Parts: sequence; structure tokens; C-alpha cells
Amino acid sequence: MKGLILYSSREGQTRAIASRIAGTLAETLECDVVDLHQADGCDLSRYERVLIGASIRYGHFDPVLDKFIQRRLAELSRMPAAFFSVNLTARKPEKRTPETNAYTRKFLQRSPWRPALCGVFAGALRYPRYRWFDRIMIQLIMHMTGGETDSSKEVEYTDWRQVDAFAFEWRHLTLKKTA
Ligand SMILES: Cc1cc2nc3c(=O)[nH]c(=O)nc-3n(C[C@H](O)[C@H](O)[C@H](O)COP(=O)(O)O)c2cc1C
Repeated sequence: MKGLILYSSREGQTRAIASRIAGTLAETLECDVVDLHQADGCDLSRYERVLIGASIRYGHFDPVLDKFIQRRLAELSRMPAAFFSVNLTARKPEKRTPETNAYTRKFLQRSPWRPALCGVFAGALRYPRYRWFDRIMIQLIMHMTGGETDSSKEVEYTDWRQVDAFAFEWRHLTLKKTA
């Protein structure tokens, strides 16, 4: 059976992480990588394990994440399942764990879903691709938090070795561990 990696991504970084995980595991586990916005018809019983990744925008995950979990909670709870979040706060290593990353911690507290494994990855900062308003807002946030403020820059903070290690952890997750 295959693995299923679902993602919600605005500028493509979460999608890139999902694809990287699929590529890393390609030799031992074939994975389908599917946009959460198109996952309504997904038959989860066709998969041996599932992974959901979502990015943060202005403090929130896309509502599609909660909607999917609400609808598919029973199925998700019956299989080895993991979650990862992507945001810029996690560019600071001390804010890169489920306990220390506020978005992820709050999500885990309020969600009825209990993924057996959870990761937090730093995303990417791509000023030239943002709309004017977003560029100003992100610049302001970066200024307040001591980050990159040069709006001509694109910076990828994702630690790909961390992503690869997480991929193998997910690969070896068993249902017993989720109990
Ligand atoms: C408009 C906008 C708002 C963002 N808001 C936040 C935020 O509130 N907190 C945060 O840590 N990162 C924030 N980010 C950073 C994104 O989470 C980061 O760029 C991530 O790589 C985006 O992933 P995606 O391309 O898969 O959507 C924001 C980025 C943009 C463009």
C-alpha cells in the first residue's frame, strides 16, 4: 500500500516539503502527494499511512485543514498519521518544535485529531513574489523579530536534513505508537 501526503500551501514551500518527503522515501514507500483543497474525494483506506502539512499565513492555517480533519477524523484516527507545520517563526531553532512553536502547539491543543508524530519546519521568505501589502506586512514582522528586511531577497530557511529525518520517522510510525 502507498502513503498519502496532503498539503496546504500558498507560495509553494509546503508543497516542496511534501514532495521532498515523497522523494526521500521513494525507494521504500510510494507516496501520493495531494493538495488538501483537492482531497475531498481521497479514499484513505487505500493508504497505509497519512501525513498532513500546512503553512501559516497571518497567524493561521488555511481553514481547509480543520475542515478536512473534521470530516475525516475517524479514518485519520485508524491509521498511522503525522502532521507538520511550516512558518517563518520556526526559522529560529528554539521555535521549531511542536511545544515551542505557538501555532503548532495551539493547533494540537484545539484539534480533535491526535497525530502520532508532529514536525515544525522553517519556511521561506520570498519578498519579490509577495503583493505590495503582504511585502510591507512581512517586512514589519521581520523588523520586529530581528529577521531579514531587504525586500529584494528570497531566503529559504527550511532545514532539509530535518525534513529527511522526519520523513523516515513518519515511514516507521506504527499504529501501536498512535494509541
Ligand atoms: C502573507 C504572509 C503571511 C505570513 N504570516 C506568517 C505568520 O503569521 N507567522 C509566521 O511564522 N510566518 C508567516 N508567513 C510565512 C510563511 O508561513 C512561510 O513563508 C511559508 O514558507 C509559506 O509556506 P507556503 O509557501 O507553503 O504557503 C507568512 C507569509 C506570507 C506570505
